[in-house]
Amino acid sequence: MDRRKFIGRTMLTAAGAGLASVLPAIAKQSRISPSDTLNVALIGCRNMGFGILQHHLSNPGVNCVALCDIDDKVLNDRSAEIFKSFNQKPELYKDFRKLLEQKDIDAVIIGTPDHWHCLITIYALQAGKDVYVEKPMANSIAECNIMVNAAKYHSNRIIQIGQQQRSGFVFQKAMDLIKGNMIGKLRRTNIWANFGYGVGQEIVPDEPVPEGIDFDMWLGPAPKRTFNQARFHGMWRMFWDYGGGLMSDWGVHLLDMGLWAKDIVNPPERVLVYGANSYHEPRSRETFDSMTVIYPKEDYVINWDMTAGVQNGPYDSSYGLAFIGDLGTLVADRSRLVIYPEWDGEGKKPKTEKYSFTEGKESHGDHVRNFIDCIKSRNKPACPPETGRAAAMHVHIPNIAARTGESMLIWDDKAGRFTNSEAANKLITPVYRDPWTLPKF
Ligand SMILES: NC(=O)c1ccc[n+]([C@@H]2O[C@H](COP(=O)([O-])OP(=O)(O)OC[C@H]3O[C@@H](n4cnc5c(N)ncnc54)[C@H](O)[C@@H]3O)[C@@H](O)[C@H]2O)c1
Repeated sequence: MDRRKFIGRTMLTAAGAGLASVLPAIAKQSRISPSDTLNVALIGCRNMGFGILQHHLSNPGVNCVALCDIDDKVLNDRSAEIFKSFNQKPELYKDFRKLLEQKDIDAVIIGTPDHWHCLITIYALQAGKDVYVEKPMANSIAECNIMVNAAKYHSNRIIQIGQQQRSGFVFQKAMDLIKGNMIGKLRRTNIWANFGYGVGQEIVPDEPVPEGIDFDMWLGPAPKRTFNQARFHGMWRMFWDYGGGLMSDWGVHLLDMGLWAKDIVNPPERVLVYGANSYHEPRSRETFDSMTVIYPKEDYVINWDMTAGVQNGPYDSSYGLAFIGDLGTLVADRSRLVIYPEWDGEGKKPKTEKYSFTEGKESHGDHVRNFIDCIKSRNKPACPPETGRAAAMHVHIPNIAARTGESMLIWDDKAGRFTNSEAANKLITPVYRDPWTLPKF
């Protein structure tokens, strides 16, 4: 840890406890000695990044020393919140490159839209910082590869991808049960994700860039485009240059669990894909609102079903996974887990035990704590870049298939290309806009 003498202490709050109720208590007891601190900075402050920062600050000895956002209002509002809740006064920046010059920063949290993740991660690694970068780890296959290679090169740095279910109790328990043979041989995982927001916002006209927003810095390496609220804060997800729609937004989280159940660390070799826009009214969106994807694996299959614009789903849940084994089906979402046993022929004897519990808490706090622990121990975190890449490849490949009209794509990971579609190969690598260049790793 050289100059950084961060010493972990017993954590004060249970992850997922309502932050509103814990913040004042934390703020009051925050007396931090210089030898006992971890200095973090946040780049991209509006929504998830700020939540992740708050989880950091809910741990003793963690300081927020810098914030960066291209939107003055977001930056000033978040800075005021940090002062009110934690009595801390971070330095403020609109250009993340300036923030990265600040010497006392140990780790950065990246909470920008997806199209910035790769570039800012690489800059941060080069500046000698540990990195917590939100999921999906990048918005393209090439950027995922670059990040994995950069992580190998900067092997002394800790990088946590924000797939927090890896640190959450429900899915850790699910993995214990599946790998402990509770449902017998796992043969299939059915995944569903139905969310209203995935159809995009109502269509609104373009407008001049509002005051206080550096829109060119928001676009960054993405192509130049006029300003539109329906493509901006929060809603960028539904536009290919910045995100991958519901497929990637929820896909990386849930597919990650289908992969973890069999310890699969590779991209899919083959995907069968249906993608369509079938919502009844036009919305501001380029990504698909309906997707079905089959991922055949060796002796195992994962099935993804997604419908944006609706909120109901199987087992009375808008999203979840059904792990289907010979002895039973384990159904899980972030807050509950149920095992439905198979029945033994005529005798109706259950083949496995019934089992269920409801946990009801999010796992961001646990994932942040794992990151902090790893900064201290220098151990590998719960979701390192190679795990993030495997999940991201499972969403980018079907999106590329749907965009190019291919119903099946075959991926050769060694060659780094699709073997059956030149149109798909053209979407592997994004074209960065001047002055930004795709990092070389
Ligand atoms: N792990 C999870 O459960 C989870 C949940 C939601 C979002 N996310 C991820 O978090 C990330 C952010 O999503 P969000 O919902 O908070 O988006 P958002 O649009 O609400 O916030 C993004 C912020 O980044 C800022 N920003 C954009 N470009 C910037 C730049 N160059 N420098 C500094 N700031 C910049 C924007 O101004 C905005 O304040 C995404 O990658 C998303 O996929 C993860």
